[in-house]
Amino acid sequence: MNILGISAHYHDSAAALVVDGVPVCAVQEERLSRHKNDARFPASAIEWCLDHASLEPEALDAVVFYERSMLKFERILTCALRSFPRSWRSFPQAIKNSLGEKVWVRGIIASHLGVPRSKIFFTSHHAAHAAAAFFTAPSRQAAILTADGVGEWATLTVGHGERRANRRADITLLREIRYPHSLGMLYSTFTAYLGFAVNEDEYKVMGLAAYGRPTMVEQVRKLMRRTPDGAFALVPEYFEYHTTAARSYSAKFVELFGPPRSSFDPIDLETSEGRRFADCAASVQRVLEDTLVDMAGALQRETGLRDLCLGGGVALNGVANARILAEAGFERVFVPPAPGDAGCALGAALYADRVYFGNADREVPDHPFWGPRVDAGELARAAREDSQPVEDLAEPELLEHVAGELASGRIVGWMDGASEFGPRALGHRSILAAPHSVEIRDRLNRDIKFREEFRPFAPVTTVEAAERYFDLPPGGLRLARFMSGVFPVRPEWRSMLAAVTHVDGSARLQALDRDMAPRLYSLLEAYGRRTGIPVLLNTSFNIAGEPIVNRALEGYSTFRRCGIDMLVAGTAVVTKRASARPAPLEEEIACVQSAAASGAV
Ligand SMILES: [Fe+2]
Repeated sequence: MNILGISAHYHDSAAALVVDGVPVCAVQEERLSRHKNDARFPASAIEWCLDHASLEPEALDAVVFYERSMLKFERILTCALRSFPRSWRSFPQAIKNSLGEKVWVRGIIASHLGVPRSKIFFTSHHAAHAAAAFFTAPSRQAAILTADGVGEWATLTVGHGERRANRRADITLLREIRYPHSLGMLYSTFTAYLGFAVNEDEYKVMGLAAYGRPTMVEQVRKLMRRTPDGAFALVPEYFEYHTTAARSYSAKFVELFGPPRSSFDPIDLETSEGRRFADCAASVQRVLEDTLVDMAGALQRETGLRDLCLGGGVALNGVANARILAEAGFERVFVPPAPGDAGCALGAALYADRVYFGNADREVPDHPFWGPRVDAGELARAAREDSQPVEDLAEPELLEHVAGELASGRIVGWMDGASEFGPRALGHRSILAAPHSVEIRDRLNRDIKFREEFRPFAPVTTVEAAERYFDLPPGGLRLARFMSGVFPVRPEWRSMLAAVTHVDGSARLQALDRDMAPRLYSLLEAYGRRTGIPVLLNTSFNIAGEPIVNRALEGYSTFRRCGIDMLVAGTAVVTKRASARPAPLEEEIACVQSAAASGAV
């Protein structure tokens, strides 16, 4: 059975194809259209998926959209009427922003793909989140918690999933919290208040939180009432997102927290104003974590299950995920590589397969690499046309060469195989660098990522080496598989891992299994042989404001426009001419090597 899943029209459009119960491919529209967070109907993603699987649209048995658009229409209309007359001016805008063409989605899909309307289905938004989390996890039975800004009405659901001996699999959502009460919207309100882009920059709030102290937790708690059933309700007077599309926080909110930050002002942590913003971020982060830990703990006690699957955009909060693992009573916590709305394309297709059609449960490969494959020949052609030297190297020579360059302080664009589905670069579209010095971090921020100084970079290491450098709780390795948890760097290694250690001593670790990305794994080993420390800095291969690179050509364009020293795509290696590079950091690396060798660290 060929099932196409689609998410679109809100944020991060995507398409995914499931054939006979197993995902075949999935890609976000932004990777193909090159518009970051592209929310349009994912025509290119669908076309690529069908091409990849050599399917014509007529061969599709079902096309599944990731939410019930009429329910969403009802929610927007109801909210506008409830807050009438305050909302009447904003209603047309809200409809335009939140719905666009979504209400008419069945007709749009039918006309784009030429499939009959009878083959077009809808899942609820949170069922798609839950399915993306549970059906991709290697767990027989798990509790499920999904949380995001809002879908149709639900903003948080709890339930459980089960794979039975007869190969039937099912998801049961027990309860939901409904709009406007939303942890995602609470966090997004602070994202807007702190001058960042809503639905895009929530991770900047988490990064900033590490610089602050949670001195305003009591104020944040005033925004949210816990209810006797263990749920929560936001206090509407502090918010405006349910009445206007223009602003998410009210004058009363500003009375409580002070004037908001203008997005044009830099955050200067040396000033009391800068520290206030960092404290705000730390405070909302703390309340989010406490609430999630509390709700996940209650779910564990209720279900008695040992595994938890987390879905929805809130599951991108790695600090909260690590606390849930450590404190909620679950032994294992699974977060898929794409827990946000893009992942709903895959979730919707899997939900339809297992639940609507009742097909037999199939094991889903446990990796994030569902996108287009990189073509080394394309890089070689682009470099030659641009008169840049390109080498074609076989392994292990290539790996030794790249490891040597990394150890000399070079920054490497690394493209390998199929691209990741989801927002994290997990070793196939990554920028790699030595993790040891703050100079590398600052150079990456300044010359390559063009982004704020307070943003941390993530480390990648092998699963075998992870616990030597990072303080992982039981189950931490699993959470680190897709870089979904933030954990302490062991204090004795912090100075040696300065480029990937956040100001509070933590790191968003990827613990790499050899089978998942064997070339990067071998590169980590080669780097470890040279430096004594098999850890690399791993950040997504893109410049601020652009989507992660997809094809070799985009990797090459990015390489030419920023301070990356070397680009690898498959077996093709392009090195920037020496005159265009900064001085290497050999002296410093020699220090790392001798310290590691002497056991001084
Ligand atoms: Fe969502």
